[in-house]
Amino acid sequence: MTEIVLDVRDLHTHFFPRRGVLKAVDGVSFSLRQGEILGLVGESGCGKSLTALSIMRLLPRGGARTVQGEVWLNGENLLTKTPREMRRIRGRAISMILQDPQTSLNPVFTIGEQLREAIGGRGDEVMRTAIAALRRVDIAAPEQRMSQYPHQMSGGMKQRVVGAIAMSGHPGVLIADEPTTALDVTIQLQYLKLLQRLRRETQMAILFITHDFGVVARMCDRVAVMYAGRIVECGAVRDVFDNPSHPYTQALIASVPKMTGPIGRLHTIEGQPPSLADLPAGCRFAPRCPLVEQRCREAYPDSFVTGPDHTADCWRLTPA
Ligand SMILES: Nc1ncnc2c1ncn2[C@@H]1O[C@H](COP(=O)(O)OP(=O)(O)O)[C@@H](O)[C@H]1O
Ligand code: SF4
Ligand SMILES: [Mg+2]
Repeated sequence: MTEIVLDVRDLHTHFFPRRGVLKAVDGVSFSLRQGEILGLVGESGCGKSLTALSIMRLLPRGGARTVQGEVWLNGENLLTKTPREMRRIRGRAISMILQDPQTSLNPVFTIGEQLREAIGGRGDEVMRTAIAALRRVDIAAPEQRMSQYPHQMSGGMKQRVVGAIAMSGHPGVLIADEPTTALDVTIQLQYLKLLQRLRRETQMAILFITHDFGVVARMCDRVAVMYAGRIVECGAVRDVFDNPSHPYTQALIASVPKMTGPIGRLHTIEGQPPSLADLPAGCRFAPRCPLVEQRCREAYPDSFVTGPDHTADCWRLTPA
């Protein structure tokens, strides 16, 4: 089995509003192996971005705090690093691409200035590295692009520049948080192909966050399904699609015709996910689950192995 490059264990990131606690990430565990693409999929608001930002130690200001867990990257627990150490780790060992390139690129600096800043150093050497980075993400005539500003580029090209910056330090792990949602469908596909090619060339591992099961099917080797702050099922994409073990995953797959197109609303299940400020005591899916039993409301289900490298948190999977 390939080496684990990122190992997230029992991660809890909460918000502390004036009253109560909002448990945005509440016991997330998964691992990422060298060279693989792991999809993190779930409805909007289930805690996907907060999971990524917790790993990167880039939580939004104003109240989110990682209160428990471990994030092992190349044998080091990122949650014990100082902010200064994290600045060295980000961009080199681990990088993140955000959904919206507008928020990642600075409008007042040229593409070249921003790339050179990310790469560090000076002179011809950094110039050559920057041009090579643009070429790697399929940007034509990179020499000319270096002196352009973000507003002079299309959305798809800006997102590729963001990718070039994120990968300029040759990170072993890349987190891509819905990197294509702002792009139109053709450009999305081009971008996904680009990420797959870069993965093949560099053997970096990618945590690919999306609410779109169709994208998971196309892009990922394994998938982790998230619901209300926790991962409820994890396995190889093939296994999970052919044999979804958790009722939530079953509903998700049923709601996506032929696994293409976004999840959007879940037409096959009534109701809404629970409030992260007021989670049920037992299984978080219990209020919507067609198979709910009494024991489901009493305790959060254990994680059961349902196949090779395939687990799900559901009481109905208890072996007889
Ligand atoms: N800045 C914030 N302040 C307060 N609560 C937030 C903030 N950002 C996110 N949340 C809460 O955390 C939950 C998880 O958010 P997020 O990780 O962004 O979800 P996802 O990426 O899966 O759509 C949201 O449902 C929301 O309640
Ligand atoms: S534990 Fe119970 S409520 Fe939760 S998904 Fe399984 S059957 Fe449904
Ligand atoms: Mg998000």
